[in-house]
Amino acid sequence: MADKATLTIDGQSIEFPVITGSENERAINIKTLRGASGGVTTIDPGYKNTGSCESAITFLDGEKGILRYRGYAIEDLAEKADFLEVAYSLIFGELPTADQLEKFHADIKAESHVDEDMKKILDGFPKSAHPMGVLSALTSALIAFNPNTVNVDSEEEMYSAIVKLLAKFPVLAAWAMRKKKSQPLDYGDNSLGYVENLHKMMFAKPNEEYKVDRAVIDALDKLLILHADHEQNCSTSTVRIVGSSHAGLFASISAGISALWGPLHGGANQAVIEMLEAIKEDGGDTKKYMAKAKDKADPFRLMGFGHRVYKNFDPRARIIKVAADDVLGQLGIEDPVLEIAKGLEKEALSDPYFVDRKLYPNVDFYSGIIYRALGIPVEMFTVMFALGRLPGWIAQWKEMRERKEPIGRPRQIYIGENLRDFKAVSDR
Ligand code: CMC
Repeated sequence: MADKATLTIDGQSIEFPVITGSENERAINIKTLRGASGGVTTIDPGYKNTGSCESAITFLDGEKGILRYRGYAIEDLAEKADFLEVAYSLIFGELPTADQLEKFHADIKAESHVDEDMKKILDGFPKSAHPMGVLSALTSALIAFNPNTVNVDSEEEMYSAIVKLLAKFPVLAAWAMRKKKSQPLDYGDNSLGYVENLHKMMFAKPNEEYKVDRAVIDALDKLLILHADHEQNCSTSTVRIVGSSHAGLFASISAGISALWGPLHGGANQAVIEMLEAIKEDGGDTKKYMAKAKDKADPFRLMGFGHRVYKNFDPRARIIKVAADDVLGQLGIEDPVLEIAKGLEKEALSDPYFVDRKLYPNVDFYSGIIYRALGIPVEMFTVMFALGRLPGWIAQWKEMRERKEPIGRPRQIYIGENLRDFKAVSDR
């Protein structure tokens, strides 16, 4: 295979090296383009054809429906690993030994408190505030209480910042929910596992012993693993680009949370359940909504369908669909929107509009149904996504800083006015 690509422009041929990744993905390295071509740039809205970095964290093949973290198949991780093991391997590159995992968890537990003054910041939010906005703001506010910049060349300082964030983030997420429900804040219980403790912080009642069904924790663990990384998606690219200015870890993650919030990205899980509910309220006529999704004059999109990279199926959606059936069965819940979701999926998979455009259910299509079965309020769905994605964001930020990547600063093609004479306001 060619290891060079040639571009001809203005009668001049310029050669570029072609690089190949460990899974044989190929890319034309255009680092020298502007210099060699006299300032010509490339344009690729939405970066559909542009690789922003080389990364050793996550591999996904959208045509084959493959997703692997650090070389491990998502199917294996979802079935056999727990969230903290997955988080460790994403961030540090290898699955932890039992000792490493124990130390990692102990270090997280030692940091699982936030400054009492953080409660005053939380108090300032109206109850109507969306928890994603609250979480982003509180994550940013953590900087004020941990103002030391991290020396990224020090393994120790990196480790300490990472552990702090993994420890405090679930506290903030749980508190964002409790504030909304006017419930007293809870610090959980450090004798519990990471995910169980998160659940306790969200759901423990002040006057009742905390009890939870193991099926609930297992389902939550699985969902967090499935969301833990997804290479250079919108929020992860945000984290990397903010971090590339040498903004700190917490500031970069706070920006990532905002990016995740949008309905085309993580916010889709909330949008899906709202869409399914609306279809149910409207008599359950899935055909009507399929027609709306296909109508170019109608802004309606089938939420939870389509993906920038997966053009075959989203392996996470497959796992989640089975998990949704399992969890609802184990908890004895019948949710009519699960049937509506399955009906929509069946129709879409045989509809030429969806088939031709390779639109399949994505990770968000069934996840909301499980979250709801677990008693998680709809507005918290995207927060759950953020909790899962946190290790991925951290791993990507760490990799970007360790590889000493340059500041992210794309080019543009200017299409505005040419030089104009300035007229004083009295003459306009
Ligand atoms: N319903 C109806 N039509 C769709 C949908 C949809 N959900 N998704 C894409 N299309 C159509 C789109 O109109 C376009 O049609 P045409 O070629 O006739 O103009 C074609 O499919 C290609 O779509 P696109 O918007 O150019 O594709 P994209 O790669 O820019 O967008 C996407 C990917 C995920 C933003 C989009 O599929 C979408 O909006 N899906 C619904 C929102 C959603 O579920 N988001 C969660 C994504 S997975 C988790 C995550 O990343 O957080």
